[in-house]
Amino acid sequence: MTMEHTQHVPVMLDEVLEYLQPQSGGLYIDGTLGGGGHTAALLERSAPDGKVLGIDTDRLALARVELRLAEHIASGRLILAHGNFAELSEIVQRTGFGAESGVQGVLLDLGFSSDQMDAPERGFAFSADGPLDMRLNQDLFMTAADLVNTTDEHELADIIWRYGEESRSRQIARRIVREREKEPITSTARLARICAAGVYTKPGAIHPATRTFQALRIAVNHELERLETVLPQIEDVLSTRQTIPTSTGDAMYSRGAGRMAIIAFHSLEDRIVKDFIRREATDCICPPRLPVCVCGHKARLRMVTRKPAVPGPEEIARNPRSRSAKLRVAEAIVTA
Ligand SMILES: C[S@@+](CC[C@H](N)C(=O)[O-])C[C@H]1O[C@@H](n2cnc3c(N)ncnc32)[C@H](O)[C@@H]1O
Repeated sequence: MTMEHTQHVPVMLDEVLEYLQPQSGGLYIDGTLGGGGHTAALLERSAPDGKVLGIDTDRLALARVELRLAEHIASGRLILAHGNFAELSEIVQRTGFGAESGVQGVLLDLGFSSDQMDAPERGFAFSADGPLDMRLNQDLFMTAADLVNTTDEHELADIIWRYGEESRSRQIARRIVREREKEPITSTARLARICAAGVYTKPGAIHPATRTFQALRIAVNHELERLETVLPQIEDVLSTRQTIPTSTGDAMYSRGAGRMAIIAFHSLEDRIVKDFIRREATDCICPPRLPVCVCGHKARLRMVTRKPAVPGPEEIARNPRSRSAKLRVAEAIVTA
C-alpha cells in the first residue's frame, strides 16, 4: 500500500449523502476523516465551491489524505486539522470554518479505519501479531500494554465488562494478571491467546478476543467520553445561522438547518447518540411525575431517522466491516 492509498471503504456512503444533501457552496465537517472516503464524496457532491473541514486524531490518517486529496487542499476546498473531535468548538474557532455562514452538515463515522486495523504495528488486530498499542492518536500517553500490565484485576474486569460487554470479563482479567506476573504482556498475539485459552469457538462465531480488544481500544482512547463531549458541540456548530453564498457570487440564500449524521459500530456508542438525540429533540425533560415543567428545556434538534439506518445486504456482502453500522441523523432547529 502506498502512502496515498487507503484500504478503507466508506460505510453507508449513499445514505450519508442522501441525508446530508451536500450542495455547492455548503460547508461540511468530517470529524473522523480516516481514509477520506466520505470527505471525497462530500467534496465531489458540493462542487465547485463546497468546503470540508476534515479532522482526525491520527496523524498518519491525515498524512494519507493530504496526498490523496492534495488538489482539494490546494484549491482551499479541504481544510485538514489534527485533533480530537471532542475539541470541535475549539478547532472550528481556530480554523474559522463556518464562522460567517454556519455549517450545513457534520459527519462522525466512529471507531477505527481498515488502515489502522490492518497495520499490525498499530496493535488493533488480534489476527496479526504486533505491539499492544491501540492508540488512535500517537501522542497519547497510555497504550493498551500499559493498561493491561498496570491495572488492578477488578478494574480490568470492569473495563472488559463495561466497554466490551464480555461475559467472561472476570475470568479474562484473572488470566491476564496471572500471565503478566510471568512476563509483561506486550503483543497482540499473546493477549489474543490469553483471551482464547480454553474457550471453544463455534464455527462462524466471533473470535474470543474480540470483545476484550474492543474494550481496551475504547478505554485507551476514551472513546465514549469523547463522543459524549462532542455531541453538544455539534449541535452548537449546526445551530449558527444557515446561509450559503451562491456559486455565482453575491446573493445569499437561506437553506434548511444543518444536519448531523453519526455512524456507530457498537451498542455503547449507538446508545449515547440515540439518548442525546432523543433528549435534544424533546421540549421538556422534567420527570413525568412533575405536574408543570420546571426544566425550561427547549428542543434544539429534530430527529430525522426515528430508527437507525443500517447497511443493506449488498453493502454487507461487499464490505463485511459495515455489518454492525447504525446511522442516526438529526437536524438542528434554527430559531430566528
Ligand atoms: C471509521 S474511520 C473513518 C473512515 C472515513 N469515514 C472514511 O471514509 O475513510 C474513523 C476515523 O476516526 C478517527 N477518530 C476516532 N476517534 C476520533 C476522535 N475522537 N477524534 C478525531 N478522530 C477520531 C480514527 O483515527 C479514524 O481515522
